[in-house]
Amino acid sequence: MTVQAMTDEWFPVGLFSQLDEAGRQTALMGEPITVGRDAEGNARVIAGGRTLPVRVRYGHVWSSLGEPKKELFPIPEADQPGRRFVDVGVVRVRCSPLRAVENFLDIAHFPFVHTDILGAEPHTEVQNYKVEIREDVDEVWATQVKFYQPQAAKSASGGITTEYMYRVPAPTCSVLYKTCPPRPSEWDVITLFVQPLAEDLCDVWPWMALFDDTTSLTDLIHFQQTIFLQDRSILENQIPRLLPLDPGMEIPTRADLTSVAYRRWLKRHNYTYGAQLVAQ
Ligand SMILES: [Fe+2]
Repeated sequence: MTVQAMTDEWFPVGLFSQLDEAGRQTALMGEPITVGRDAEGNARVIAGGRTLPVRVRYGHVWSSLGEPKKELFPIPEADQPGRRFVDVGVVRVRCSPLRAVENFLDIAHFPFVHTDILGAEPHTEVQNYKVEIREDVDEVWATQVKFYQPQAAKSASGGITTEYMYRVPAPTCSVLYKTCPPRPSEWDVITLFVQPLAEDLCDVWPWMALFDDTTSLTDLIHFQQTIFLQDRSILENQIPRLLPLDPGMEIPTRADLTSVAYRRWLKRHNYTYGAQLVAQ
């Protein structure tokens, strides 16, 4: 079992704003962990008496069961003045953490799953877009993704053609850049940080960095939670439960180019926790 590559990655394990000294019991890749803070207010993650590496970034506490070879991936927009940073909270999903990310990368489901919000019939066609593995940063990128959306964001009034860029900087994290209705020169940032509890169970922690001075925090969180709850009912019914990483196990269509690149990148790095591999 080659889980070592993922053991050395950073994963989200909770919201920094919700830490307390008693600590919260959760899990990381099957290991029970306690996420809390010490008397000085610093985040602390313990597994079986061992103190794990910790970072606090993007509203969340990050940790690793192993020894991360790389620093946590950058999100430059997290330091940009004028943005609102929104901790959406947690959605527990009974699915592979890799499936949760792959679903986030998929736009073809918008009209059918997020009907009249992120998509609507008859606007079901996915136009051509670009997908690449950027070798210099070792990330999967999809760009020039365009889609008609009736209600692209809480700040959008009426339907618009939204442009998206997707980034996968870590095996269970994706960063989405999306047309920003109030500021056409900027991108709204919506992330999906996935905490692998087990190979078929995860906590999904969405986080946002938006330009939106008018929508209430409650409405922003509610909008995003509505979307993720719609995704959850799809994700919990996917078969096989683990993400197939061998070519040919699921037939890709043109709209699945990002998924193909994501799977190829996972396989290249042996990021196989939550993946299904056929006997080799
Ligand atoms: Fe979705």
